[in-house]
Amino acid sequence: MLRGKKILMIVTGGIAAYKIPFAVRDFIRKGAEVKVVLTPSAEAFVTKLTLSTLSKNEVVSDFYNADGSWNNHIELAKWADALLIAPCTANTLAKMVSGTCDNLALAVYMSAHCPVFIAPAMDLDMYAHPSTKANIEKAEGFGHRIIPAQYGELASGLVGMGRMAEPETLVSAVEEFFIHQNGEQAFLNKKILITAGPTYEAIDPVRFIGNHSSGKMGYALAEEAARRGAEVILISGVSAEKVSYPSIQLIKITSAKEMYDEVFKYYDKVDIAIASAAVADYTPKEVSPEKIKKNDDRLSIELIKTPDILKTMGEKKEQQFLVGFALETHNEEEHAKAKLQKKNLDMIVLNSLKDKGAGFKGDTNKIQILTPNEKKSFDLKTKQEVARDILDFIQLKIQ
Ligand code: PMT
Repeated sequence: MLRGKKILMIVTGGIAAYKIPFAVRDFIRKGAEVKVVLTPSAEAFVTKLTLSTLSKNEVVSDFYNADGSWNNHIELAKWADALLIAPCTANTLAKMVSGTCDNLALAVYMSAHCPVFIAPAMDLDMYAHPSTKANIEKAEGFGHRIIPAQYGELASGLVGMGRMAEPETLVSAVEEFFIHQNGEQAFLNKKILITAGPTYEAIDPVRFIGNHSSGKMGYALAEEAARRGAEVILISGVSAEKVSYPSIQLIKITSAKEMYDEVFKYYDKVDIAIASAAVADYTPKEVSPEKIKKNDDRLSIELIKTPDILKTMGEKKEQQFLVGFALETHNEEEHAKAKLQKKNLDMIVLNSLKDKGAGFKGDTNKIQILTPNEKKSFDLKTKQEVARDILDFIQLKIQ
């Protein structure tokens, strides 16, 4: 979607500027052309050399160059298909909304007719200040798109809201815009619920029963669904994976019971539900409030069944297109077919631990898709490609 798109980036003087080279590199990898303008204070945080090397274009920060030539802010602004201001400091934001134009970057901004994306970044008190809030609202009122700051550790050592969104989120926000603009969005106006990752069932405050799921398969599905325009609710067990599309609502849970509760807050309103999580089938009947001491040679823990989330989804199914996963080790097809029927699914994605490179943790998977009357086998692929195959299949079914 970014191939051939002209992305103009304005970098202002905040510590998050050190992350901008990653965003430039990502845009270039995705086929975009990139030009960068720095505010004078941004030069203290990131070098022109780094940015010009990565963008393959000259980086400018002043109206005039050493040789007396000048940088035409109007031409730069006209060149761009999208303008991304990141990081955007409180100072530049205030100048943008008040029409102050005391550097090249602001002159470029004020001359731009293309969509403008703003990624604010500042310390938590500055971000929470009423003037910043009002300026963000004003910028939104101008039709600009805000890429919200995030919660986390700040350069000051404080923890709170104000961290610039990660570089991949900046790139995805722009990409998402172009996808919408091109109308290439098979899942536009569709709500998709996806479960991902493992569940952990506590034994005591220290130990749990878990499994090897990394969340990679589910997160790849969520990213691909968002790329196709869907509003995604991703309910995930413990995972190191990240989402980049702002249209993904990420809800983190730990146990099967928590996953169940979250799923049924949203299930009745979604068009599609995909259960890729590896949910524990059993959980300790009682959780010891204190660490269990190793006094005996043996320890017995009584386990009880967890709620079968997917089966309940099948029982409550109305408008939803319901997709389950089956992770098998033997008699794969037979077991997957039984789950398809027993859980009242529209389709099931079978992966077998017998196939090298399939299943847990790795970056690849090998699947078969089964519906009540069809079967399709796929080669070993990356989980991103597998996510595409699954969503292509669903797309055909719901048309
Ligand atoms: O996360 P990764 O490391 O990328 O690995 C991906 C994966 C291997 C976890 C994924 O591809 C996968 O196979 N997910 C389903 C794993 C699983 O639990 O399969 P199952 O056959 O035991 O369960 C069948 C279906 O019922 C699944 O859709 C599961 O989400 C659902 N289920 C199971 C038990 C339960 N209590 N509630 C459920 O909803």
